[in-house]
Amino acid sequence: MGISSERFETLAVHAGRADLTGLGVHAPPIDLSSTNPLPDIERGGDSYESMAGGGRPLPDGGAVYQRLWNPTVARFESALADLEQAEASVAFASGMAATTAAILATTGGSGKRHVVAVRPLYGGTDHLLASGLLGVEASFCGPAEVAGVLAARPDTALVILETPANPTLDLVDIAGVVRQAGPVPVMVDNTFATPVLQNPVTLGAAMVLHSATKYLGGHGDVVGGVIACDEATAEALRRVRAITGALLHPLAGYLLHRGLATLPTRVRAQQETARELAGLLGRHPAVERVFYPDLDAAVLADGRTGSLRHQMRGPGAMISVALRGGYEAAERLTSSLSLFTHAVSLGGVDSLVQHPAALTHRPVAPEARPAANVVRLSIGLEHVDDLAADLESALAPAAAGPSLPPRAAPVLPLAAHAARTPVS
Ligand SMILES: Cc1ncc(COP(=O)(O)O)c(C=O)c1O
Repeated sequence: MGISSERFETLAVHAGRADLTGLGVHAPPIDLSSTNPLPDIERGGDSYESMAGGGRPLPDGGAVYQRLWNPTVARFESALADLEQAEASVAFASGMAATTAAILATTGGSGKRHVVAVRPLYGGTDHLLASGLLGVEASFCGPAEVAGVLAARPDTALVILETPANPTLDLVDIAGVVRQAGPVPVMVDNTFATPVLQNPVTLGAAMVLHSATKYLGGHGDVVGGVIACDEATAEALRRVRAITGALLHPLAGYLLHRGLATLPTRVRAQQETARELAGLLGRHPAVERVFYPDLDAAVLADGRTGSLRHQMRGPGAMISVALRGGYEAAERLTSSLSLFTHAVSLGGVDSLVQHPAALTHRPVAPEARPAANVVRLSIGLEHVDDLAADLESALAPAAAGPSLPPRAAPVLPLAAHAARTPVS
């Protein structure tokens, strides 16, 4: 039985649940089996072979082993694929595991060992590509330079971009980059926008990645990653997952599936509050600059300024601010806020604040690392007036306490950064 509406809110509640009534249950069952009884050697073996190659379990052969297939995770995958308007999706243990699988699936066996990465990107993605850990060479460039890099590198297997980007909220013109990429697949990190605000598949992206840890889960209690794509790409990704073992635990799959039902309501409410706070911060004397997407004044992939309203349905609920008082002001703000928790990660029901240069973007090369006076805010579901009061009070001169001699940001050399694991 299919879902009779294609409206996003209805899909978000019902996707991946069409068989529940027939099963006589109201909530999706959780299957925690690490292994599954085999019907017999031959049918079990055939099913194993299908899944080890990235296929689905054979109907009479069973799921065999959790690293190959899990029905609770598969429900979440099918629901997320519906929301992203994709044929399929494949879930992983984290967003970074998903990115790793995308790189391995496109470079492995293709003879192509080069990836183009449009900066800025989440620090962990940037770090993974710059580290060479996967035996892949990366070229970092701006959205207008993709065609030029690809012309010089016919061995490119993948183009990666993020929009809005972490933490500057830069918007990247997805269709413009897809045009430049031609036959090379483009993967869009859609973590900040979520499928509520943007569906990169409809703009030609081959893969749509989420750190599901963020808005999809939405409650700060689950880590996961997922890639929406066509069925052929899903097979390649499932094969990598089966071989490398970076699978999503079924309890996490259940929680992520449950998170989807409230995703549109959460994201829109958080966005409304963020819009108001971005305006308030823009008028605050302690704030040098607010980073918040302006859909009517985006830099397009051809370098012109124009509208990306056809790409994104709203600016989202992430804000970054550059403070006039430098690193010291950033330090003071992160420690003076009380409703905002000073913590990495984002996209949950509660508001968070963090300092990208010291944390999420610490391993990024100095020329691409955010400035020391920038802090990133993830706006939650608290009342806007309470969040505004918290920001006002933390930004007030009184919060500065007795004046201290100015301190520069502690900057570690890149080698020391690169040895560290970035946090989200
Ligand atoms: C935009 C973006 N992509 C990917 C990731 C990596 O996801 P995870 O922490 O789930 O591995 C993060 C984490 O913060 C992120 O912000």
